Amino acid sequence: METAARTAPAAVIVAIDGPAGTGKSSTSRAVAAKLGLGYLDTGAQYRAITWWMLSNGIDVNDATAVADASAKPVIVSGTDPAAPTISVDGLDAAGPIRTQEVTAAVSAVSAVPEVRTLITDLQRGIAAEAPHGIVVEGRDIGSTVLPDADLKVFLTASAEARAARRSGELKGKEAGDLAATREALIKRDAADSSRKTSPLAKAADAVEVDTTDLTLDQVIECVVTLIEGACAERAGVTR
Ligand code: DC
Repeated sequence: METAARTAPAAVIVAIDGPAGTGKSSTSRAVAAKLGLGYLDTGAQYRAITWWMLSNGIDVNDATAVADASAKPVIVSGTDPAAPTISVDGLDAAGPIRTQEVTAAVSAVSAVPEVRTLITDLQRGIAAEAPHGIVVEGRDIGSTVLPDADLKVFLTASAEARAARRSGELKGKEAGDLAATREALIKRDAADSSRKTSPLAKAADAVEVDTTDLTLDQVIECVVTLIEGACAERAGVTR
């Protein structure tokens, strides 16, 4: 991965939100690497707590049981964009959190307010401690977790484009057919957008980028340019 060819000023905080399959992770990682920033995948944290619930026999559809157990797992995220990591109770969770089982359960677990409070606190702590700033990707980063971010980007894409990208990422029979992937994405977006606590939402001051007809490189370049603009604006204001 390309490293720090361009620079951003100290401790710039960037929030990148949007539904699944819009290129959030690839874009956020690449932008962070280019600008020498940290990178945090908040979806991985919700997947990690979901994996712990499933592994420990908690009924993920029982919000009270999930809330009661939510403080038990210790979730640690590594923020190097070249090699992001996620562990639960000291176990590497990078593989298990990407299974269909976790994907199918994560919206229910992440809708539980106690889970959101814990994970949001974790995210704010990580962002506050990032020495050179950080790119944080998720669903509610600009709207709830980091409302004072220097730049908020909301990525969108058509359901067809998102399903095609997600199918390309999944391998063999995990991918299923395109129509099934599309339906699953739409269902998960609907659950994430309609939950009561901190739903998937575009912050009022976020810049919306429709990635449907853009290549990954074009989206990366667009976001880097937006960050440079936000940083120049910040420097102008504070000068
Ligand atoms: O980005 P992802 O598909 O790995 O995210 C998995 C799920 O985690 C997503 O369906 C909803 C939840 N999530 C959330 O509720 N808030 C976030 N900031 C990030 C993810």
